[in-house]
Amino acid sequence: MSGGRERASAFAPASVGNVAIGFDILGFAIGAIGDTITVSRRGSPGVEIRGISGVVVDISHEARDNTAGRALLAMAEAVRPDFGFVVEIEKGIPLGSGLGGSAASAVGAVVAANALLERPCAPLELLSFAMAGEAVASGGRHVDNIAPSLFGGLVLTVGIDHPRVKQIPVPPEIRAVVVHPHMFLATAKARAILKREVNLSDFVWQTANLAGFISGCYTSDLDMIRASLEDVVIEPQRQALIPGFQDVRRGALEAGALGCSISGAGPSMFAWTTAASAPAVQAAMQREFARQSLKTDAWSFEVGGQGARVLP
Ligand code: HSE
Repeated sequence: MSGGRERASAFAPASVGNVAIGFDILGFAIGAIGDTITVSRRGSPGVEIRGISGVVVDISHEARDNTAGRALLAMAEAVRPDFGFVVEIEKGIPLGSGLGGSAASAVGAVVAANALLERPCAPLELLSFAMAGEAVASGGRHVDNIAPSLFGGLVLTVGIDHPRVKQIPVPPEIRAVVVHPHMFLATAKARAILKREVNLSDFVWQTANLAGFISGCYTSDLDMIRASLEDVVIEPQRQALIPGFQDVRRGALEAGALGCSISGAGPSMFAWTTAASAPAVQAAMQREFARQSLKTDAWSFEVGGQGARVLP
């Protein structure tokens, strides 16, 4: 197979996943930051990680232990191109931040490599290759960072082996605020502490909240979003891993946020709010992290931007 490009670079955005009530199934893209992955052809099959630069450099150059590399190995096994992939990774997303950095590298890699193929893969195939890459970092297959990084916006994914992906409309007055405290939290650790069982009443509450949140998005019902953007299952177990969690959340809500929770496995936190309240919500969240002696980066944005794309 030959005829595609010799080399392509793709930008894949960071993401918040899970979005509180949609553990492992619901996430949204953060267009302001992301990873840029460049993939070139080489004569012999296989995957070589040639360079890693940017805000993270101490990750494995071994393809099978690297999220981008593992995603490309999955792609190569399925597609069997008559060439190999050489990969350069430019990390824009900090490691262990809860901002979907491992997913973005995997997504960027398969989107760039897809541009080298004579017969490009369908988006859902790319999703499944990227999922194999994400598993390197988190120890499990989940899509709540992969899907928004690949497709953009707020994305719900149903199923793992045969995923159905749905981009959920977000009311135009909504702004997401995401605050990243400068500390590292390993996703695998934040997953390992989770109990395997869920109490029945919590299950009912969480199910109602997920349904309420999604229906609130479809109907632009901000009151429903406010009432349902509350994670009663995962957040109570993880919040102790984040210094000042309760104060950051309370600060966001007092400043007008509709809801505030952990971004992915943490330590980043996010809030949904209106455009008018976004500056105050962001300031309150950053102030509370500062009280914990944590420096922060923060972004406020409309949810609904583009997903991963090949750069010109
Ligand atoms: N949904 C995952 C979690 C995201 O919360 O553990 C982390 O990659």
